[in-house]
Amino acid sequence: MRLDKYLCDMGIGTRSQVKEKIRKGLVTVEGALVQRPEYQVGKEQQVHVEGVLVSYTEMEYYMLNKPAGCVSARTDGKCQTVLDLIASKKRKDLFPVGRLDKDTEGLLLITNDGMLAHMLLSPRHHVDKTYEAKIRGRITEEHVKLFGAGLDIGEERPALPASLKILASGEVSEIQVTVQEGKYHQIKRMFQAVDCEVLYLKRLSMGSLKLDERLTPGEYRPLTADELAVLQRGGLE
Ligand code: URA
Repeated sequence: MRLDKYLCDMGIGTRSQVKEKIRKGLVTVEGALVQRPEYQVGKEQQVHVEGVLVSYTEMEYYMLNKPAGCVSARTDGKCQTVLDLIASKKRKDLFPVGRLDKDTEGLLLITNDGMLAHMLLSPRHHVDKTYEAKIRGRITEEHVKLFGAGLDIGEERPALPASLKILASGEVSEIQVTVQEGKYHQIKRMFQAVDCEVLYLKRLSMGSLKLDERLTPGEYRPLTADELAVLQRGGLE
């Protein structure tokens, strides 16, 4: 590919900014100065900009502990987005795999791997998503049965059966719930359907991928090779 595209893909600057760096003589390929932006370079070649190695990365995979208050979008005119939090990103084509509401915390996968995203999000694949939540209202075994039977949340068909676990029951209850769908406001709508209200929501896992609890809200890390391998084998182990 062209040298200016290589550098642009790796987030070194806009196309015109990287062209300027190349023309100014700040870029070497395999140790040799190259001043032509159209110079053809391979992904495996060593490119340095101002002495710093830029290695080409095709795919990036990050686990983010999404904080409340930021939006699951690539860009937003007003609000901080989940992509704004990924300071070390190289690729410009990263996106969040699915959406969490602005006030929801927890596991969000950020990547530019469209195939993997499709595998995790396609309604046909029924990938488990587990959340923990605080609920206004006393959650009982009756709710467990209703969730397990598939709730009417105002769509043509009832929600798929969900597994509800009660951690603490009181005026405010604490629960864990696992669903296999990702409909808009899914968890909030399920609790609304039984006259309860979600006060706090955090995603703990998606398929095989579990939130690394060492990440505080707003922190992220690259997926490990093992996490990625298991996800790519189907995300369901
Ligand atoms: N369900 C919701 O209601 N909100 C989320 O952010 C995720 C699942």
